[in-house]
Amino acid sequence: MKKIAIALTSLAALGLGAAWAGDAVPKADAGKVTVDSEGKTHQWMKTGGEREKALELKPDLAHGKDVYEVCSACHMPEGWGRVDGTFPEIAGQHRSVLIKQLTDIREGNRDNPTMYPFALPSEIGGEQSVADVTAYIQKLPMNPENGVGPGTDLAHGEKLYKDNCVRCHGATGEGDADKYYPRIQGQHYEYLLRQYKWIKEGKRRNANPDMMAQIKDFSDKDTIDVLDYVSRLKPPKELVGAKGWHNPDFE
Ligand code: HEC
Ligand code: HEC
Repeated sequence: MKKIAIALTSLAALGLGAAWAGDAVPKADAGKVTVDSEGKTHQWMKTGGEREKALELKPDLAHGKDVYEVCSACHMPEGWGRVDGTFPEIAGQHRSVLIKQLTDIREGNRDNPTMYPFALPSEIGGEQSVADVTAYIQKLPMNPENGVGPGTDLAHGEKLYKDNCVRCHGATGEGDADKYYPRIQGQHYEYLLRQYKWIKEGKRRNANPDMMAQIKDFSDKDTIDVLDYVSRLKPPKELVGAKGWHNPDFE
C-alpha cells in the first residue's frame, strides 16, 4: 500500500498522470475589487464563468497543440515570445495564470487588441480549448535567453524586490499557481516594464488590487530597477529549454 502511495506521489511530482483534481479551482481572493484609471471598479476574480470551467476540465494535449498553432504566430512555436517584449513568453507559465489571463482577455477584462480576435471562442473554441491549449503551453520549456534590463542599479532593484514582491511572486519570481500569481522569472524585461506600468496606472483592469497598493509610490527609477532585477531571476533548470531549441511540433 505504502509503495503505491509513493509511486503516485512521484508521478504527481513529475506532473504526469496527476489527477485533475490537483487543478481544482484555486481559491484566490475572489471578490477583490480593482479601480481602473477612469475610477471604474472591476472584480479582480469573478466567480464562476469560463475560468473555473476550464480549470475543471481534463485537458487534451493533442488538441491543445492544434489550438496552439494560431498562438504560435505571435508567441512563436516555442512560446518564447520576443526579446523586445512585443509578445510575452508564455512557455512554462502556471496553467491557472494562463487560464485567468486568456479568459480575462476573451471576456474583455484585459485589453489586448492585437490578440483578441484570434483568441475568441469563434476562432479557437470554448472552455475545452482553453483547458487544452493552456496545458500544452505550460509544458513548453522556457526561453534560456530572455530580454534583460539595463543593469544600472541591481542592488536597489534587489532590495525593492525583497521588500515588495517576494510575498506574492516568490524569492525567485516563481509566482504561485494556487493564487494566480504569475511566474515573472525568465520574462522579457520590456514586457515586464509595460505590464507593470499598466497595472500601476490601472490600465490593466484585471490587476490584483493588493499589488496596485504595494507599488503605488514607486518612482520611475524604482520601477526600472526592480524589473531589471526581476528580468535576471532564473527559472529552475528543469523548466528551461536548450539555447536554439525549436519546437518539433511545428517543424
Ligand atoms: C496576433 C498576435 C497574438 C496571437 C495570435 C496570440 N497572442 Fe497572446 N498575446 C499577444 C500580445 C501582444 C500579448 C501581450 C499584450 C499586452 O502587452 O498586454 C499577449 C498576451 C498573452 C497572454 C498573457 C501573458 C501574461 O504574461 O500575462 C497569454 C496567456 C496569451 N497571450 C495566450 C495566447 C494564446 C493561448 C493564444 C492562442 C489561442 C494567443 N495568445 C494568441 C499577441 C498574440
Ligand atoms: C499582493 C500580491 C502581489 C504583490 C505584492 C506584487 N504582485 Fe505582481 N502580480 C500579482 C498578481 C495577482 C498578478 C496578475 C494580475 C492579474 O490577475 O491579472 C501580478 C502581475 C504582475 C506582473 C505582470 C506579469 C505578466 O505576466 O503579465 C508583473 C510584471 C508584476 N506583477 C511584478 C511585480 C513586482 C515587480 C512586484 C513588487 C514591486 C509585484 N509584482 C508585487 C500579485 C502581486
